[in-house]
Amino acid sequence: MNGAGMPYSDDQRQIERNVRIHDRVAADYEKMHDEIFNPVEQDRLRRALARAKEALRTGAERPRALDFGCGSGNLTRHLLALGFEVVAADISPAFLALIERRHAGQPVETHLMDGRSLASLADSAFDFAATYSVMHHVPDYLGAATEMGRIVRPGGIVYIDHEHSPSYWGADPAYRDFLRRASRFDWRKFLVPHNYYGKFRRMFVDPHYSNEGDIHVWPDDHIEWDEIEGVLRGEGFDTLFAEDYLVFRGRYRPEVYEEYRTRCTDMRVLAMRKAG
Ligand SMILES: C[S@@+](CC[C@H](N)C(=O)[O-])C[C@H]1O[C@@H](n2cnc3c(N)ncnc32)[C@H](O)[C@@H]1O
Repeated sequence: MNGAGMPYSDDQRQIERNVRIHDRVAADYEKMHDEIFNPVEQDRLRRALARAKEALRTGAERPRALDFGCGSGNLTRHLLALGFEVVAADISPAFLALIERRHAGQPVETHLMDGRSLASLADSAFDFAATYSVMHHVPDYLGAATEMGRIVRPGGIVYIDHEHSPSYWGADPAYRDFLRRASRFDWRKFLVPHNYYGKFRRMFVDPHYSNEGDIHVWPDDHIEWDEIEGVLRGEGFDTLFAEDYLVFRGRYRPEVYEEYRTRCTDMRVLAMRKAG
């Protein structure tokens, strides 16, 4: 079994499904994800990336970064602002076309991935390999972490962000309390027919069905951060920082978020550097 609880033989079908779904949502992706595209989260991300970049020891004048699973270019924009040349890589041609339109004339290349490995990228080709909210879509996410280690040169950094922290899966009472108090009631969800369909499918057909349709890692078989750190240590990396945080979402009451942001967490960011 792999990280998503699927036999490896099912991976190709899952990857093709992921390509279809992401191609379909590419144009509206940013509107659909206010947990990413809000000022609080963007500011946290900007600071975390800058901190990781400070720790680069490859000596490159114009460092080269991979945005693995780039989507519409959330990391790509930050990496450019930090002075990197960027390779934006994804399985979705629609996302890559969007990046090409948005970043024409900037030091950004796009790269179409097969979803199974990073084999098309050479050893030690990058100073910085970053990914944000992608690992839970990758059937063999430990293989992907190992490969991120392979393509980074000595002194370079692997940066993995926006995956659930262990306390999210651990049913922390403070977090449950936070969710109950923070979430504003949004009656618009009752107007979305797909929400009813999703509920029906989860109840009667497939408990792992996701409304967006793509694969996700589920509570009974989820991303294991210790194992990610373990495979990267095996590639010669040391941890720079591993920090849990509480992500801000548009539906939260800001004053409740402020009260709880130091009391509970639901996400983790990890940065590791390759010995050089
Ligand atoms: C939740 S989105 C995150 C996008 C972007 N990183 C961001 O910060 O908004 C997940 C991305 O992972 C890509 N993806 C899914 N499965 C993948 C795989 N096996 N290999 C590489 N990318 C994958 C999707 O096409 C999509 O762009």
